Amino acid sequence: MRVIVTGGAGFIGSALCRYLVGECGWQVLNIDKLTYAADQRSLASIEGAPGYRFMQADIADGDKISHILDDYQPDAVMHLAAESHVDRSIDGPGDFIQTNIVGTYRLLDAALHYWRNLPEDRQKTFRFHHVSTDEVYGSLGAEGLFSESTAYQPNSPYSASKASSDHLVRAWHHTYGLPVVVSNCSNNYGPYQFPEKFIPLMILNAMAGRKLPVYGDGQNIRDWLHVNDHVAALRLVLQHGTVGETYNVGGRNEARNIDIVHQIINHVRDLSPHRTLPPDDELIEFVADRPGHDRRYAIDATKLENRLGWQAQYSLETGLRDTVAWYLNHSGWWQPILDRKYQGQRLGVA
Ligand code: NAD
Ligand code: DAU
Repeated sequence: MRVIVTGGAGFIGSALCRYLVGECGWQVLNIDKLTYAADQRSLASIEGAPGYRFMQADIADGDKISHILDDYQPDAVMHLAAESHVDRSIDGPGDFIQTNIVGTYRLLDAALHYWRNLPEDRQKTFRFHHVSTDEVYGSLGAEGLFSESTAYQPNSPYSASKASSDHLVRAWHHTYGLPVVVSNCSNNYGPYQFPEKFIPLMILNAMAGRKLPVYGDGQNIRDWLHVNDHVAALRLVLQHGTVGETYNVGGRNEARNIDIVHQIINHVRDLSPHRTLPPDDELIEFVADRPGHDRRYAIDATKLENRLGWQAQYSLETGLRDTVAWYLNHSGWWQPILDRKYQGQRLGVA
């Protein structure tokens, strides 16, 4: 397979490139604008591999994307490039509208033009895979799960921009026949995640003995999935998903934020016994809630499991412990980010 991955220098995109090139032996061209969230050091293990190439480009630059498609002649586009952090979307929605909506529109248009000019046999097998989020479905109460037929009810500028992009992808399939598949995944965690996100921020703060800022009452629930399980699902959806359909991805790993924080502190204590951390209640600080904070996300992944045979391989317990161990052993990756890009300050308090 010969694929273009957009956003491949980000957290999930880099895991996908490492998996497709390093484990599946595919040819991958990674297109990334290299925003603050990108880090090419996350791709060091495949840098120089014969099947891997990188090109800096903005997905909203339609002409450039068209040239890249014509030159590279991919069998598929896997579209992950996005502005991805909810708190930043509260502080500045403009970049989210530009990349997630306008950028997806330009990419779709370039892909449509490219697809129409393919020979018939290659048109049949070409796929545009749009990688999206469970946040498009809004917030759940204490019961229930998001299924593929749950109505869209996005609540943040980020999720509204992703919902818009999902609708554009759907329309490009229904109106123009572009062969698309869509996946909507729950919260990812794992190595190489930018420390603005909850789990890496809590790990790095706990390691340094800094306060762990828990929004609101800490009872919000997320459905956590190890990034390696997500990228395995993406490959299955791309290769075996039915054109025009959506697949929800989630590991049935619901947890309250406050419980994740206690688990992280325990893992840091356990894996790094020379550190003397204060008691949990001195480390944890309840801070002002996120505006519009969704209460609970939970994915019903039955369709993906039954039709495509996917199963999450990581339990939250082992995945979280491995992730804490990874951050403990990779200060060379995250320290330059803390020095130059983001110092752990509160975002999104409008
Ligand atoms: P990320 O913020 O870590 O990485 C995004 C990447 O996209 C960065 O490398 C960035 O440079 C690139 N990018 C941004 N704007 C671009 C543009 N205009 N042109 C080209 N590249 C651009 O994001 P992530 O957490 O890896 O998420 C990847 C995708 O998966 C996103 O579409 C996100 O909505 C979706 N998703 C994320 C999660 C999660 O928990 N992180 C869960 C479900 C779905
Ligand atoms: O559900 C999938 C989504 O998960 C993805 O689409 C997004 O790209 C990704 O960022 C993530 O969104 P969340 O808003 O759920 O993730 P975040 O890591 O920002 O926050 C997780 C939870 O932790 C949420 O309830 C807010 C809370 N939180 C977050 C931070 C950064 C805190 O309590 N304290 C914090 O400092």
